[in-house]
Amino acid sequence: MKALISPNYYFDKAIFAEEQEQIFAKSWFFVGFVSDLANPNDFITVEVSGTPVVIQNFKGVIKAFKNVCSHRFSIIQTEKSGNRPFVCPYHGWAYNEFGLPTGIPKKPYFEFTDEEFECLKLVQYDVEICGSLLFIKLIKDDTSLAKFFGSYYSYIEEMSNAFGELVDVNEMLIDANWKIVVENTLESYHVNLIHKDSFRKLGTSGLDFEFVQKHSSWNTGLKFEEEDPAVKLIHKPYKDRPYTIKGYKHTIIFPNILISTTYGISFNLSVVTPVNENTSLFRSFVFVTKKNNEKAKSALEDAYETSLKEFNRTVFAEDKFICEKVQMGAKHTSHQGELSEEETRVCKFQENYKALMSTI
Ligand code: FES
Ligand SMILES: [Fe+2]
Repeated sequence: MKALISPNYYFDKAIFAEEQEQIFAKSWFFVGFVSDLANPNDFITVEVSGTPVVIQNFKGVIKAFKNVCSHRFSIIQTEKSGNRPFVCPYHGWAYNEFGLPTGIPKKPYFEFTDEEFECLKLVQYDVEICGSLLFIKLIKDDTSLAKFFGSYYSYIEEMSNAFGELVDVNEMLIDANWKIVVENTLESYHVNLIHKDSFRKLGTSGLDFEFVQKHSSWNTGLKFEEEDPAVKLIHKPYKDRPYTIKGYKHTIIFPNILISTTYGISFNLSVVTPVNENTSLFRSFVFVTKKNNEKAKSALEDAYETSLKEFNRTVFAEDKFICEKVQMGAKHTSHQGELSEEETRVCKFQENYKALMSTI
């Protein structure tokens, strides 16, 4: 069938601006892991749809605010992450967990009525947790995270709660529109050529797709099943684990989060953040499963983690290469694009995308 998105959707500035408003400002947006904010005063900062946001632990309670001081507009938390009281670095206004500047240096120099003081309150955003994942939403509406995930909620919760040691964080800028990067991960049609010596060797295949709300998954067996003696040996340390699946599962949390797992032993969570219409920030986190025992890490596990890291980096470098070629080509075509049955999840992604972008 014909693709639902015309090539200009991948490089048009006005469309990019519309996406920021219609999709990213309205959707639940992944900002990090619960472990990032484990201690009081831990914070992370992100930009969602162009808006600077800080998510901070206030004595155990996680809150999200617009990261802009009400005094004279400085950014309040200036680092990507850290541990620091919620105090503006410019003149020292300190904000409480409700976003009110309850600590103003030399306060008698200001004269605020109660009403004026209330107006200094920072804009607050919804923040919710599912398993080990933290999400925020800029728009005030009645879509809870549970509603957003639908029947996927418990699956995402259970799976992400199984994330154990963080083996690798891979950050790279890709010279391609965010949808090209996301769509690349939603089909296995490219595996034979692009991942000839890497992902292809896993022996994934088939069209076992599931669709839940705007999200979707692909389930596939692998060439080496867990019963294979060599696989059995590598998997032995992880035998006693909290989350198990057969083979490989790849999931998109619409619009830009991709989570995959192999046997529930290794996990990859990737975030594709739009930078501009031609560039995306790709961040990928590799985990091994938690273990239900306290055994010290073996040399075999070390070797497995190293190979996991290298494997993921190789595969994503291969995808980066081809996504950048697609971005170049999209600017020089009059074709709409074609989608095969193997690209059904791309089709669904485009359908969901277009439904939100119906004004253009
Ligand atoms: S701008 Fe923040 S305290 Fe002055
Ligand atoms: Fe790929």
